[in-house]
Amino acid sequence: MRIGICGAGTVASGVVSILQDSKGLEARLGSSAIQIAAMASRRASDNPVFAGIPFELDVFAMPSRADIDVIVELIGGIDDALRLVKAALSEGKSVVTANKALLAHHGAELMALAQSQGVSLLFEAAVCGGIPIIKALNESFVGNNVRGIAGIINGTTNFILTKMAEPGANASFETVLSEAQRLGYAEADPTFDIGGMDAAHKLAIMAALAFDEPLQIDQVFTEGIQEIDGEDLKWAERLGYRVKHLGIALADDTSLEMRVHPALVPDQSQLASIQGVTNAVNVLARPVGETLFTGPGAGAGPTGSSVVSDLFDLARGAPTRPPQSLSEDRGSRKAKSMLETKSGWMVRLSVRDRPGMMSQVGSILADHGLSIDQIQQRDAPDGTTTVVMILDSAVERDFQASLTALKSHPDVMPGARAIRVFDPESIG
Ligand code: HSE
Repeated sequence: MRIGICGAGTVASGVVSILQDSKGLEARLGSSAIQIAAMASRRASDNPVFAGIPFELDVFAMPSRADIDVIVELIGGIDDALRLVKAALSEGKSVVTANKALLAHHGAELMALAQSQGVSLLFEAAVCGGIPIIKALNESFVGNNVRGIAGIINGTTNFILTKMAEPGANASFETVLSEAQRLGYAEADPTFDIGGMDAAHKLAIMAALAFDEPLQIDQVFTEGIQEIDGEDLKWAERLGYRVKHLGIALADDTSLEMRVHPALVPDQSQLASIQGVTNAVNVLARPVGETLFTGPGAGAGPTGSSVVSDLFDLARGAPTRPPQSLSEDRGSRKAKSMLETKSGWMVRLSVRDRPGMMSQVGSILADHGLSIDQIQQRDAPDGTTTVVMILDSAVERDFQASLTALKSHPDVMPGARAIRVFDPESIG
């Protein structure tokens, strides 16, 4: 099988390194079963890993080459990648891609094209780097009814939150982000990581496969980690939690909720222990129960490993699941509005330090049906008190109404903060 690799960045270097030195592939398929016919990238590369591979500057010339059977799309972005993948599928060539943004926005259309052409569009590398979660959702859980997925699905944000939470951490957000970029974890546009869009793309793809529903990226509630500060992390820790950036997709027989946002997770939960660029996806399905997939979510080796696993399946002629699983005409569940979802909350308020203040805060919460699980307060020298509460799980609409009421109280200072709490054990 002769492949053309489009893109010459971090993931491409991982793929080439693995293909040039994989004893496992050689043992299973024989030597030279997967040959790199050419690479193409809009910018020349001096990466020594690519030395000796024919290199072109026009990625769009690759799909029509007679000496290429499979296109590996690693150029990223949406518009050019869409043009490239469509051209390749239209030429009757299978495509392996790591491009979650492309799939989240155009997956249904591309799958339909692949199907009509009788070729495959494979994307293990698009979700959670080296974790084989696509294969698991596509194949391994086929006898199950998946009810929920919850996980840490962006390495860059987990890397940043981990560094910010280290004892005595004083590196700025920007410094930690630059380190993530230098290590090849971040997207070309890091606002996709920080703002939660990268996680939303991955969640939309996983949810479509897990629940056999159409891809619905526009239904994913998306919040990033831009607003999280060191004080949030310290208070969370004092109260027995860690702050993580989560992707959560839950389904019952009639509705589906998909959300990406920072959340406190209990200290003793497995998700709390996931550090650095590591990703983890908790899948709850019946009858299997709860399974946790964890591993490196970004970087050359892990993401390259997933690309190579798709190439291996193509090279050995493994049947790939019929690709209609991402198509628009599947599923019947209704997407829930975020206001209908339920979460616990950590609320941090600065209030005027005067008698009766706590009972007023409590009665505003009670008026909206909210109940306090934990509360701590600390007086400040300026006559204010910081009050931090963990609230029991409540419907978002009620919580937001109570927060608005708290903020408009004359003795609550501006800058009230609220972060959701998620207990993975609540799935089910
Ligand atoms: N930028 C992504 C992350 C890379 O940090 O997880 C893999 O999608």
